[in-house]
Parts: sequence; C-alpha cells; structure tokens
Amino acid sequence: MKKLLSLFLLLLSFNVFASGGVELQDADIDLNDKVSLQRGAKHFVTYCLGCHSAKQIRYLRIAVDLGLDEKHVLKDIAPEGAGIYEQLHSAMNKHDAEKWFGTQPPDLSLIARSRGADWLYSYLKGFYTDKSRPFGVNNAIFEDVGMPNPLWQLQGEQQPVYETDGEKRTLEKLVSTSKGTQTAQEFDQTVNDLVNFLVYVGEPVQLERQQMGKYVLFFLFVFLAIAYLLKKEYWKDVH
Ligand code: HEC
Repeated sequence: MKKLLSLFLLLLSFNVFASGGVELQDADIDLNDKVSLQRGAKHFVTYCLGCHSAKQIRYLRIAVDLGLDEKHVLKDIAPEGAGIYEQLHSAMNKHDAEKWFGTQPPDLSLIARSRGADWLYSYLKGFYTDKSRPFGVNNAIFEDVGMPNPLWQLQGEQQPVYETDGEKRTLEKLVSTSKGTQTAQEFDQTVNDLVNFLVYVGEPVQLERQQMGKYVLFFLFVFLAIAYLLKKEYWKDVH
C-alpha cells in the first residue's frame, strides 16, 4: 500500500513538473457539437495543415461524420486541389521541415489520445514572447518547443510572469500584452473547436458509437415492453 501511495505521489509530481508550474486549462469537449467540429476542421486546414498532416482521416469521412455534403467540404474546408478521398496531407516535405525546424512536425491524427485534450488546449494557448528562441516564442506547457505560434494573429502576444524563490525561477502565468484580431473569448472558442476536432480525429468511430448506443437503448426498451407483455400472457392462466 505504501509503495502504491508513493508511486501515486511520484506520478502526481511528474505532472506538476511537466506543466512547469502553469496549470493545464480545461477543454470543453463535445463531439455532438457538429458546428464546433466543422469550425475546428476549417481551422485545422487553415492553421495547421501547412506543417502537420492527419493521415488517419479523409475528407470524405469528415463530410459524412460532420453532416456536410462533399462539395461543401472540398470548397470550404479542404485546401485547393484536394480530392474527397484524400487524407489530410500536409504539403510540407521532410527536407524543408528538417531545414526550417530541425525536426519534423509530427502527424496529428492521434495527438489528442497521446497528449489529452486539456494539454492541447493549454499548449495552443501557451505561447509567449521569448526573443532567445528561433521563432521569438516559447511555450508554457512545452518548453523550448520548435514550433512558431500558428495563431498569433488571432491571439496577439503574451508575456510571461515569473515567480522567484531564491535561485529558482518558475513561470507563474502569462499576460496578454497586445491585442489580436479576436477577443480573448473568441480565441478560447477557436482553440476549443480545434481541440474538439483533434479529439474527433483521434477516434472518429466515437461519433458512430454514440449513435449506435441510442439504437441499442431503443431496442432494449422495446424488447423490455415485449417481454413484459409476454410474461403477463404466460402467467395469466397460472394466477
Ligand atoms: C510552421 C509550421 C507549423 C505549424 C503551422 C503548426 N505546427 Fe505544430 N509543430 C511544428 C513543429 C516543427 C513541431 C515539433 C516541435 C518540437 O518537437 O519541438 C510541432 C509540434 C506540435 C505539437 C507537439 C507534438 C508533440 O507532442 O510532440 C502539437 C500538439 C502541434 N504541433 C499542434 C499544432 C496545431 C494544432 C497547429 C495548428 C493550430 C500547428 N501545430 C501548427 C510546426 C508547426
């Protein structure tokens, strides 16, 4: 029991370190909110697909799952020239990526499963100005990340506020220092839609499964009614 407890505490402390003192914020995930998923898909193609792919999903699947017709997806969501059967491929090639970023932007199909929705939400909101970094930004959740802030025009700039304890300096919070094109509320919504979409991409069958669940419940209910009537019928003569 003691061992278990210390393991638990250890894991807990890792969590605190991992986020570098800044706590994760809650993403509001709702896969039934098709409009949010549609906006998220659009944002993903606009702001992320330049560097990241999501090869586990095709535009056709997005059309079917999000209740859009194929033409709409090709015109308003997919980049020009993409076909409906294509996966969400980034146009960036490996060679350029290595040259520009020193690393390759990972495929984001399963990122919501490996990192979690709250982490992604906090990460996308966690960029702050840091002139010592190649792209002029750092991230509160992912220190020294090699990715520029793709949403800076919407969000504006943020500066870090530190807490010093003797020699140790920890990031306490971020404060907004210049306005973007969106208000803070609008920006939260944009990021939330993006994360909602990434959660869906991580497991598209979730949407189907929820639908299936409703049918199963309906069936059970009808079956219960029939069973009840049958029971009454059988026992009628016994009583
Ligand atoms: C200009 C190119 C570029 C754009 C645009 C971009 N990224 Fe990235 N991204 C990168 C690179 C490069 C890395 C790898 C960073 C590293 O490992 O230090 C990365 C890493 C990430 C990671 C961390 C993966 C991990 O767990 O290691 C996430 C999450 C991510 N990007 C999400 C996004 C999302 C969501 C968008 C769109 C809103 C986006 N990125 C737009 C280049 C980009």
